[in-house]
Amino acid sequence: PVGLQREVNLRVRLHLSERSIAGGSLLNKFAGLSLGGDINAEGGLNERKEPPIRNSIILEKIHHRRSLQLREKQQEWQESPEGQKMLEFRRSLPAYKERDALLKAIAENQVVVVSGETGCGKTTQLPQYILESEIEAARGATCSIICTQPRKISAISVSERVAAERGENPGESVGYKVRLEGIKGRDTRLLFCTTGILLRRLLVDRDLNGVSHVIVDEIHERGMNEDFLLIVLKDLLPRRPDLRLILMSATLNAELFSNYFSGAPTFHIPGFTYPVRAHFLEDVLQITGYRLTAYNQIDDYGQDKAWKMQKQAAMKKRKTQITSSVEDALEAADFSGYSPRVQESLSCWNPDPIGFNLIERVLHHIVTKERPGAVLVFMTGWDDINSLKDQLQSDPVLGDPSRVLLLACHGSMASSEQRLIFDKPEDGVRKIVLATNMAETSITINDGVFVVDCGKAKETSYDALNNTPCLLPSWISKASARQRRGRAGRVQPGECYHLYPRCVYDSFSNYQMPELLRTPLQSLCLQVKSLQLGSIKNFLFQALEPPEKLSVENAIGYLKIIGALDENENLTVLGRHLSMLPVEPKLGKMLIYGAIFNCLDPIMTVVAGLSVRDPFLMPFDKKDLAESAKAQFARNGYSDHLAIVRAYEGWREAETHMQGHEYCWRNFLSIQTMRGIDSLRKQFYSLLKDTGLVNYPDDNASSWAHDEHLVRAVICAGLFPGVCSVVNKEKSITLKTMEDGQVLLYSNSVNAAAPKIPYPWLVFNEKVKVNSVFLRDSTGISDSALLLFGADISTGGLDGHLKMLGGYLEFFMQPSLSETYLTIRRELGELVQAK
Ligand code: CDP
Ligand code: MG
Repeated sequence: PVGLQREVNLRVRLHLSERSIAGGSLLNKFAGLSLGGDINAEGGLNERKEPPIRNSIILEKIHHRRSLQLREKQQEWQESPEGQKMLEFRRSLPAYKERDALLKAIAENQVVVVSGETGCGKTTQLPQYILESEIEAARGATCSIICTQPRKISAISVSERVAAERGENPGESVGYKVRLEGIKGRDTRLLFCTTGILLRRLLVDRDLNGVSHVIVDEIHERGMNEDFLLIVLKDLLPRRPDLRLILMSATLNAELFSNYFSGAPTFHIPGFTYPVRAHFLEDVLQITGYRLTAYNQIDDYGQDKAWKMQKQAAMKKRKTQITSSVEDALEAADFSGYSPRVQESLSCWNPDPIGFNLIERVLHHIVTKERPGAVLVFMTGWDDINSLKDQLQSDPVLGDPSRVLLLACHGSMASSEQRLIFDKPEDGVRKIVLATNMAETSITINDGVFVVDCGKAKETSYDALNNTPCLLPSWISKASARQRRGRAGRVQPGECYHLYPRCVYDSFSNYQMPELLRTPLQSLCLQVKSLQLGSIKNFLFQALEPPEKLSVENAIGYLKIIGALDENENLTVLGRHLSMLPVEPKLGKMLIYGAIFNCLDPIMTVVAGLSVRDPFLMPFDKKDLAESAKAQFARNGYSDHLAIVRAYEGWREAETHMQGHEYCWRNFLSIQTMRGIDSLRKQFYSLLKDTGLVNYPDDNASSWAHDEHLVRAVICAGLFPGVCSVVNKEKSITLKTMEDGQVLLYSNSVNAAAPKIPYPWLVFNEKVKVNSVFLRDSTGISDSALLLFGADISTGGLDGHLKMLGGYLEFFMQPSLSETYLTIRRELGELVQAK
C-alpha cells in the first residue's frame, strides 16, 4: 500500500496545483453552480426592487408613457404593408380562431392548460397574443411574460421568429435567455428561456417578482426539468395570486395536468392533418430492393448449417411466446428471410454503417422515384446525424447540391443553420432534414411529405440542467412514432418509412415514461440537490407522478455511503462532480477516479462495458467454445471487467487491420456491443474534458493504464459497497456479503469456474436474488485497494472509515490534505495490524 499511498498523495497534490495554476477552472465551474451570485447573473431578468413611495408615483408615470409608446409602435407595424402580410399568415394558423377565448380564459383563471396539433401556433402565437393584448391595454411597460422551452435551440429560434412577426429584432420587446447566452433589452417583455434558466432564477427569486405570466411549453415531453418546475410553481401560485400560469402541450394528456393544478380549465386548439401511409421494415426492404435470400444460402461468417437450423427453430419457437419487451420482440421476429448482414442490423438497431446504408437506400428511392416534397429523417443524436450527413454527401445523387439540399437539425446547431430548415429550396431541389426527436413537436417543417423514422431517440434530456445529453439511444413510444409519422401530412397526404418491423412497433409502450421516473433514482436525487430544491424526499413526493418512497430512501442511503451526500444530505464535492455526468453514480465515480489516477483508458472501457449489453455471446450449442474464448480474455485475472477491457483492446487492434468482424466471430463477441463501447468511450472522454477532469491537449490521462493493481483499485472505488469476502476452502470457495451472508457467482463469470481465487475480496457490479443471491460481473481486489479506495468492512469500523474516505475526497478542494492523509495512514496501520 505504501506505493499506492504515495501515488494517491502525488496525484491529488498535482491535481490541485494544476487547478490553481489554470485559474481554478474546476473550482470556478463548480462554485458557479452553488453560489447565488452566479445564478443570479445567469437567470436574472427584470429584477426590480420595490421603490420608495414618492418614487413609485414618478415610476408609474414613466411606465404609462412607455406603454403608450409601445402601443403606438405595435399599431404602426400592424398597419404597414409587411405587417399586414405577416398578420395574414398569422391569421391562417388554427390558434388564431381561439385567440379571444384563450385570452379570456387566461384572464379569468390562474392556470390554463392548452393543447393542439404541432404547428397550430401554440409556441409562436399564444405568448404573442398575451403580449399584444397587454400592450393594447396599455400595460406594455409593466407586463413580463416568460415562456420556457425544453431546448436551447428552440428558445432562440422561437424568439427570432416572434420578433420577426412583430417587425423587430430580438432584444426589443422579445428576447431569449439560455445557458451562457441571451439577448434581452430594457423593453423586453416576452422572454423565451430554457426550463433550466427559469429554475435557476427561482433559486434566487422565489416569488418571481415582477413576472406576470409564466408559460411552460412542451409539457407532454415530461422532461425532468419541466416536472421539477411544475412542483416549484405549484408551491408558488398561492403566494402570487396575480401570476398567470399557462401549460402547453402537443398531444393530449391534459387531464393529468389539469388535475395536478386542482382542475384547471383545459383548452384544445383543433387542427387538421392529411393521412400518412406507414411502411414498416418489411415493406421498406422490398421497396428499396434488398434481396430476400433464404437464410441458409448466405453464409457470411462460415458457421455450419446445423447450427443455423437449430437457431432458426429456436427463433420460431420463441415467436409464439408472448413478447414482453422490444428486445424480446426483436429476438422473436422472424428475420430468417434476410441475409445475416441485414439481420444483424435489424436484430439490434444501431446507427452503424449498416443502418446508415438502409437509410441511404430509402432516401435514394424517395429522391429518384417519389413525388416532390421535403424529407424528414429522425435520427438519435447529433453524432450519428453528422456521420450520416458525411456518408450521404459522398453519394452521387444525395450529395449533388443541384438535386438535394441536405440539412441537419439538432439541439447543438447554430440558429442560422436552423433558419434554412424553414426556407423553401429552389425548384427541383429536394430538402432532406436529418433531425433528432426535437423535430417531433418543437420544430415544424412546413413542406414535409416524407418521414424516415429509425425508431430510437436519445436526446430527450439534452438541455437538462448541466447540459449533459443522455448517452444511449432507446426505443421510442407509440405516441412518438405516431407523432413522427404525422410530420409527413402537413401539406398533402404523406409517406412514412419506419425502419423497424411492425412487431417491434407493436411492442412499443403507449407513451414515453416521464423522465423523472425513467432516470435512475440515485441520479435523480443528485439532480434535486444540485438544483438546490431542498429536501429530496419532500420535493420528489410532490411531483406529478412521484417515485416510490422506499426506493428514494434507499437511493439517499446509497449516495451517503459512496460519499456523494454528507450526513445532512448536502452534496459533497464528489456528489457535485457526479451530478454532471450522465451515468449512474457508481460508474461516474469510477470515471472520476480513473481520470485522477491516470488510468482512464481501461476504466472507460469497463464503464462502457457495464452500460451496454454483455459483449460475450453464449450460443447455447457452443457454450464450451464461447466460455473458453472468454476465459482466454480473463487470463487468470479473476476479473470479468478486465476481460471486457482485453476483448475490447483486441477488437480495436483488429479493427486497424480491418479484421474487427472476423475477430468478433472467432471470439464469440458481439460486434454491435464493441461498437457501442467504442462510441461510449468517446462520449465519456469529451464529457470529462468538458468538466475539466482531463487536461486537453497535453493529456496523459492514461499513463498508468497498464498498472493492473491501480485499475482494480479504481474499479473497487466505483463498485463499493458491492463487495464480498473470499474464503478458499479445500474443494470450494465461500463468498459472503455483509447483508446477504453466503452468495454465489453467475455461471457466466470468469470467477465461477476458478478452483481458487487468490484475492481476499471480490467487488461486483450487481446482485440478483433468485433463490440464492447471485453476483454478476466481479473483480478480485486486494486488502489495500479496499482500504484505500472502498472502505473496510471486516472490522466493523465502517462508519469511521467512511468518514475518513469522505475526508480524503475533500482533497479535491482543500490544501490541508496532508493532515487527512496522515489520519488515513495511521488508521490504515492500525487496521492492518488488527487483521
Ligand atoms: O407550437 P406549435 O407547434 O403549435 O406551432 P408554432 O411553433 O407556433 O408554429 C406555428 C407556425 O409558424 C408553423 O406553421 C410554423 O411552420 C411557423 N413557423 C415558422 O415559419 N418559422 C419559425 N421559426 C417557427 C414557426
Ligand atoms: Mg410548439
